[in-house]
Amino acid sequence: MSELPTPTEATTTTAGLLSAIADTGRDRVRGGYSRPVFSTAERELVDWYVAELDRRGLQAQTDRNGIVWAWWNPAGAPPEGAIVTGSHLDSVPGGGAFDGPLGVASALRAVDLLREREVAPARPLGLAVFPEEEGSRFGVACLGSRLLTGAISAERALGLTDPDGNTFADVARAAGLDPAGFGRDEQTLARIGTFVELHVEQGRGLIDLGAPVAVASSIIGHGRWKFSVHGQGNHAGTTLLADRRDPLLAASRLVVAVREVAAAHPGTRATVGRLQPVPGGTNVIASRVDLWLDVRHPEDAVTRAVVAEISRRAQELAAGEGCTVEVREESFGGTVDFDPALARRLTTTLGGVPTLPTGAGHDAGVLAEHVPTAMLFTRNPTGVSHSPEEFCTDDDAERGSTALADVLADLLT
Ligand code: GLV
Ligand code: MN
Ligand code: MN
Repeated sequence: MSELPTPTEATTTTAGLLSAIADTGRDRVRGGYSRPVFSTAERELVDWYVAELDRRGLQAQTDRNGIVWAWWNPAGAPPEGAIVTGSHLDSVPGGGAFDGPLGVASALRAVDLLREREVAPARPLGLAVFPEEEGSRFGVACLGSRLLTGAISAERALGLTDPDGNTFADVARAAGLDPAGFGRDEQTLARIGTFVELHVEQGRGLIDLGAPVAVASSIIGHGRWKFSVHGQGNHAGTTLLADRRDPLLAASRLVVAVREVAAAHPGTRATVGRLQPVPGGTNVIASRVDLWLDVRHPEDAVTRAVVAEISRRAQELAAGEGCTVEVREESFGGTVDFDPALARRLTTTLGGVPTLPTGAGHDAGVLAEHVPTAMLFTRNPTGVSHSPEEFCTDDDAERGSTALADVLADLLT
């Protein structure tokens, strides 16, 4: 294909690409990888990605929302209507090696495969890496794609803070971005004709089906809520039990209540994965406890009802300990059904691979509200994700990239 630049070095496999970043952001305390957005580790991954683009003759451009793009524009084709693929490089704390990077490496590998096959595209191919997909630093998942599409206002995003109290505005500025530029980007959105994200599967669907690749049908709705339980900070040795207003006791009972309420609404996933006593000392009764609730259900009304019931229980449990509680919604996104015609087209192109729903969130879910969007999942033989045990074999990683190349070749020509 004449317009596709020739890489300056030999291409490699998907696993070969990932091996170059296998030591970046390893977390020696938690295990796995911690690659928060705009951290040294995540920036090293972006540098690696930019260098890999460069090897393929593709030039990285960071847009005003911090999304790293590369465009391959065939001669004579208008810039609009591109077929875009990509994923993210940030991780949860102590996460696995594949959630995000597999989609990024597969996109690079797919470019190599398209070139090897001498595919002649009729429309542009775009590659994208979205910042803060996990929301593990600033609390709101898919922050880059939400900013791009206007699903979050620039004002709200810029005021978000990380666990050290740094604002997104300050951290983005330190990373070389102009806070004044954040917000819905019509021009970039108009360039995206179709978006396809490949992702490692985060459950057991493909293990059970005995298949290496699936097409996504939907993402279940999910949101995050912050509960702050306020009590009386005091001395662990001098405060008699009867005199305490300990918010950690109320918060602990709330964790149990979350499970009970979720269990009463079949299909609900409700998680407290982060709980922070303030100030957090062994000999200090906390004055406040912050805990974050993640709730997901295919029916948005059920998610809302579950959170309302948990909030009521929180008020009761806090009052029972002489404490008070505030609840704040940090984010919510409804269930997304991917474009059925596009999903069928992918399934047919791939010779009838299975279709799977997912409980995990993705930038593809945000973009699906604006452009025809699809996802591919690559088998994860442990069925475990957001954990160091997340895995993908070299062969399956290559099968996933090949499937992505097949789909892109079909959509591009
Ligand atoms: C991201 O992976 C999420 O589903 O929270
Ligand atoms: Mn992901
Ligand atoms: Mn994830």
